[in-house]
Amino acid sequence: MGWGKGLPSAVVTNEDLAQRMDTSDDWIRSRTGIAERRIADGRETTASLAIAAAQQALQCADADPRQLDLIIVATATPDYPLASTACLVQDALGATDAGAFDLGAGCSGFVYALVMGHRAIASGENDLVLVIGADTLSRMVDWQDRSTCVLFGDGAGAVLLKASEGPAGVQSTLLGSDGSGSSMLYVPAGGSARPASAETVAAREHALRMDGRGVYRFATQTMAEACELVAEGAGVPVADVQHFVPHQANQRIIAQAAKRLGVDESRFVSNLERYGNTSAASVPIALCEAAEEGRFQSGEHVLMVGFGAGLTWAAALVDWGEAEPGAAVPWWHSMGRRVLYGWARARSRARRTWRALAEWAWSVFRRMAGKSD
Ligand code: UT7
Repeated sequence: MGWGKGLPSAVVTNEDLAQRMDTSDDWIRSRTGIAERRIADGRETTASLAIAAAQQALQCADADPRQLDLIIVATATPDYPLASTACLVQDALGATDAGAFDLGAGCSGFVYALVMGHRAIASGENDLVLVIGADTLSRMVDWQDRSTCVLFGDGAGAVLLKASEGPAGVQSTLLGSDGSGSSMLYVPAGGSARPASAETVAAREHALRMDGRGVYRFATQTMAEACELVAEGAGVPVADVQHFVPHQANQRIIAQAAKRLGVDESRFVSNLERYGNTSAASVPIALCEAAEEGRFQSGEHVLMVGFGAGLTWAAALVDWGEAEPGAAVPWWHSMGRRVLYGWARARSRARRTWRALAEWAWSVFRRMAGKSD
C-alpha cells in the first residue's frame, strides 16, 4: 500500500470568512472543530489535486504507473459532468494499461472506492489499483449560505492497493445506503431531473443544500453502528481496534461516535481543524497524514468509516502492513517516474493533434469527393 495527498496552497481561516459574512471563529470552532480550510485557486481542479495525490502514492510505494490495472476516483465535484476525472488522472499518469472510472457516493466515496478496489484485487482480476478521493466543494457551495459554506474545504487523497499473499490488508468491509434521505444533502439542479437553465442559475440551485441537523443525527447513529458491524465482520472486538480514521465532518460527530463505541477519542485520527470537511478526500488525507507521522504499526487494526450524501455509509477494517519504501526510494526510480509523466503529457498532446489532423484530412477528402458533411 502507498498513500499520498494533494492540497491547494491557499489557506482560508475562520477569521477570513468572518470578514466576508455573518459568522465568527467562535461559532465555527465550537460547532464543528474547524479552524481553517484549503481552497482551490483558479488553476486547481479536482483532477489536478487528484493527480498530485496519485503521484505521491506511486512514489511512496515506488510503483510504476504503467502497471496500474484500475483507477477509481471518488468525487462529487468532477472537472466535467462527462468525461470522468479518473480518465484525466489516467492520462496524466501515463497509466496506459488501466481502466478508469469515477464513483459517486458523496463523502463515503473514498471508502466505497477502497472496498471496490479491494474486491477487484480479491477477485484475482487486478493486481494494482489506485483509489482516490478528491473534491473541490468550494466550487459547489453557496457562498451566501453561512450554514454550509464554512464547513467545507478542497483536497485529494490517494491509496495504492497491491495484491499480496501476506496477512495484512483489508479484513472486512461494509457498504450501506438509504435513498429516502437523498434530499437531506444534494444539489437540486444540473442533472437530468432539472437541467441547467437561466432559471436554475438564478435560483442558486446548482449549489449544495443540506439539512444540517438531519445529517448530524444520521451521522452520529450510523458511524458507531458501521464501526461495530465491520469490526464484527473481521472477528475483532471494537476495543481492540487501535486506530479509527473517520470522515472529517465535525469533531462533535467524531466525539459522539467514540462515546457510543466506548473508546477513547484520541484513537480517532482528526485533522478537520486544518482542512474542514473535504468530502471524499477527508478519509484518505487523514490516513495519509497519520501514516506519514508513523502512527500506525505493522499488524495494527485501522478502521476507516465514512458517511454522506445518498444517504450512504461505508467502513473497512484494514490490518496495517510493513512500512513502504517512502524516502528510501532510489533517486533514479523517482527520476524515471518524472520522465514518464513528461512523456505522458507529450503522448497525450500527440494523440490529440493526430486526431485533429485525421479529422481535417477526412473532411478534405469528403469535400474533394463532392460529399457534404
Ligand atoms: O459530509 C457530511 C456533510 N455534512 C455534515 O456532516 C453536517 C452535519 N451537521 C452538522 O455538523 C451541524 O448540524 C452544523 C455544524 C451544520 C450546524 O450545527 P448546529 O449546532 O446543528 O447548528 P444549527 O444548524 O442548529 O444552527 C444554530 C444557529 C442558528 O441560529 P438560530 O436559528 O438558532 O438563531 C443558525 O442560523 O446557528 C446559526 N448559524 C450560524 N451562526 C454563525 C448557522 N450557521 C452559522 C454560521 N455562523 N456559519
